[in-house]
Amino acid sequence: MSRIQPKTTPIYQTSVFTFQDLNELEQYFEEPGKQYMYTRYGNPNSDELAEGINKLEGGAGAVVTSSGMSAILAAVFSYCQAGDHLLCAEEIYGGSSTLLSQELERLGITVTYVPNEELYEISNYVQPNTKLLLTETMSNPLLQVMDVDKLVQETKRAGIKLVIDNTFATPILTKPLALGADMVIHSVTKYLSGHSDVTAGVVVAKDVEDYNRAKKVMMVFGLNLSPFESWLAARGLKTLRLRMRQHSSNALAIAKFLQQHPKVKQVWYPGLESHAQQEVAAKQGNGLFGGMLSFQISDELEDVNKFMQELQQIPFAPSLAGVSTSISHPLSTSHRALTPEKQQKLGITLGVIRLSVGIEEPEELISDLKQALEKI
Ligand SMILES: Cc1ncc(COP(=O)(O)O)c(C=O)c1O
Repeated sequence: MSRIQPKTTPIYQTSVFTFQDLNELEQYFEEPGKQYMYTRYGNPNSDELAEGINKLEGGAGAVVTSSGMSAILAAVFSYCQAGDHLLCAEEIYGGSSTLLSQELERLGITVTYVPNEELYEISNYVQPNTKLLLTETMSNPLLQVMDVDKLVQETKRAGIKLVIDNTFATPILTKPLALGADMVIHSVTKYLSGHSDVTAGVVVAKDVEDYNRAKKVMMVFGLNLSPFESWLAARGLKTLRLRMRQHSSNALAIAKFLQQHPKVKQVWYPGLESHAQQEVAAKQGNGLFGGMLSFQISDELEDVNKFMQELQQIPFAPSLAGVSTSISHPLSTSHRALTPEKQQKLGITLGVIRLSVGIEEPEELISDLKQALEKI
């Protein structure tokens, strides 16, 4: 038979691996990582994806998981148990706060939300049982940019771990571990896979010990990612750098267009001079500001619906970070579960539209937005 050497990794669509005899089984236990036994514990496709992300983030090891949510769960369970307390940025993905407040609180892990602007001075919030601070590099949906250097200093001073959700920024913009964070998580569903066809997550740890703990949580709770999803995400990861450049330059052009439009009340994009953390974003963004922006139109339901209906090329799809542009509506999707008071406090009103800018020609996107804005 001729030699078969595929250039890309085949999909190991198997739940289990075989052993010749007990000697081979012993080898599996003695030399971890050399062989595979059971896909929930490890699989060549999930390992390929984890290694790729780990390299980009500069970690000691990464574990891929079935979703971004299970990555957050694995991160929290790596550091916390019943009786522990954690701090979380107030402006964060709504699903993350639902997990913490509604599920982990039930298991005895308590949470205190800290307004993002107070995260550099947390001593008043830290309790003797506080184990970690969870925040996003760029917040969802209003793109507040956190200064990771300052967060590292403050969490070190407080003696707690710093866990960063780097989903919006990606390691192409910011590498929190290199700046001193302890753990990074991602919804791999978003930019890392990039094509809106995968649901996945990842935990990347700075230290081996934390990596081992996250891996154990993944294995025992069964949070693993399937071989096919891993394969798809690993395929997407190969173009991450190129995609992030185009996402970022398109988003900057669109943010500038929206900013001067009379029907647009406000634009949140870290690349705009008017953005409150533009300097921090420039310092830690590697010259890029990412593909996510939010903007506010009229707060009337009729206007919001009309705007969505009139868009010809940009669908309303409550996710983000795919190669094609989409809009979302935080108030009725990602941040729906928050109390009205909290939604109002964060500034998430009916007219706030989140735009996930894709990699199409920017002129096409601007012209679609322009004609839809004219109709309201
Ligand atoms: C910033 C952020 N983190 C985590 C998640 C959860 O990820 P997933 O939907 O892959 O579970 C999301 C989902 O939108 C997100 O936007």
